[in-house]
Amino acid sequence: MNQLHPQRALITGITGQDGSYLAEFLLSKDYEVIGLVRRSSMVSFERIAHLQDKVHIVSGDLLDEASLIEALQKHQPNEVYNLAAQSFVQTSFGQPVLTGETTALGVTRLLDAIRIVDPTIRFYQASSSEMFGKVQEVPQSESTPFHPRSPYGVAKLYGHWITVNYRESYNLHASSGILFNHESPRRGLEFVTRKITHAVAAIHLGRQHDLRLGNLDAMRDWGFAGDYVKAMWLMLQQDKPDNYVVCTGETHSVREFCELAFAHLNMDYKDYVVVDKAFFRPAEVDLLVGDPSKAHKSLSWYREVSFKDLIAMMVQADLELLQGKLKSFS
Ligand code: NAP
Ligand code: GDD
Repeated sequence: MNQLHPQRALITGITGQDGSYLAEFLLSKDYEVIGLVRRSSMVSFERIAHLQDKVHIVSGDLLDEASLIEALQKHQPNEVYNLAAQSFVQTSFGQPVLTGETTALGVTRLLDAIRIVDPTIRFYQASSSEMFGKVQEVPQSESTPFHPRSPYGVAKLYGHWITVNYRESYNLHASSGILFNHESPRRGLEFVTRKITHAVAAIHLGRQHDLRLGNLDAMRDWGFAGDYVKAMWLMLQQDKPDNYVVCTGETHSVREFCELAFAHLNMDYKDYVVVDKAFFRPAEVDLLVGDPSKAHKSLSWYREVSFKDLIAMMVQADLELLQGKLKSFS
């Protein structure tokens, strides 16, 4: 192992929202960071542009096990964070097979690669509160039964159980983080929070006239992505692998998010938001709210950014982005 870098982590999905925050966090802890990136005709390094001279990029795809084996053999990480996925719920209804290949079977390919190359590697699986779906109890904890409501949720449930299975079958240090929704200025524009904050900024600047949304009554437990990546790392520092719910313990509606986001720039959401059936889902997850007590107790993890501050941060960042003041995500 390199003396200057006692810890080496491989992140799949490093170009995504969470991947960029996790890479920053691990670099701040002196890790050597390797990012697995799939080939595309245009590189999408926007979120990690400011880190490009600090991280090693390796080519690979969750659809291709040989590429995963090769990445592990070449870089010999001691921790692997599997953040890569087809992560947009709405798309999973239109592309259920692709979602299953990546978000479900992709986890098996990576776990198998670890088992073959080096079973001492510690593994983090990005599981999701979408697995609770039609919730069986409120709030949802590690012991709440699952009832997914989308091909994405079903695929994540497979990913969760295969992680547990490789832990039990091969004694891998494989943990599953059941993370509730977490957002940031780096969130993809298709997700509801960023769609709202970007529209608020655009409307404020006179560049957009209205905002078309689906179900305003859906309730989510929203936190800040920068807080949540710390919980991922904490899970891999424990003596034993386990499952953990990571959340705020608060729930808010999409309507409430709109209300606060528009109010941040002194506007009333009722003047701009139009309900459009095109954004409704074939099956909806009505209410998510987690119980963070295990993460508090076992990981000493607490969220730092409040719901209100998260919205203010996102609206402000979108305003600066549209005004050309935000040059990079750093
Ligand atoms: P995201 O922004 O959509 O990022 C997804 C990442 O996966 C991107 O880097 C993407 O690469 C990569 N990817 C997709 N398909 C791939 C493939 N076949 N091979 C290799 N890489 C592939 O997602 P996120 O919000 O950061 O979420 C990170 C993970 O946590 C995901 O697994 C998500 O499902 C899960 N999760 C997220 C939340 C949340 O609220 N954010 C909550 C619970 C769980 P490209 O840049 O090439 O597209
Ligand atoms: N995207 C979107 N667009 N959602 C809308 C809209 C809209 O125009 N209007 C209403 N919504 C509602 C959705 O129906 C859903 O109930 C809620 O807003 C949140 O939608 P998303 O932001 O797309 O997130 P999600 O909850 O479906 O999924 C996210 O969180 C999961 C964890 O619970 C994703 O990040 C998943 O990858 C993650 O696992």
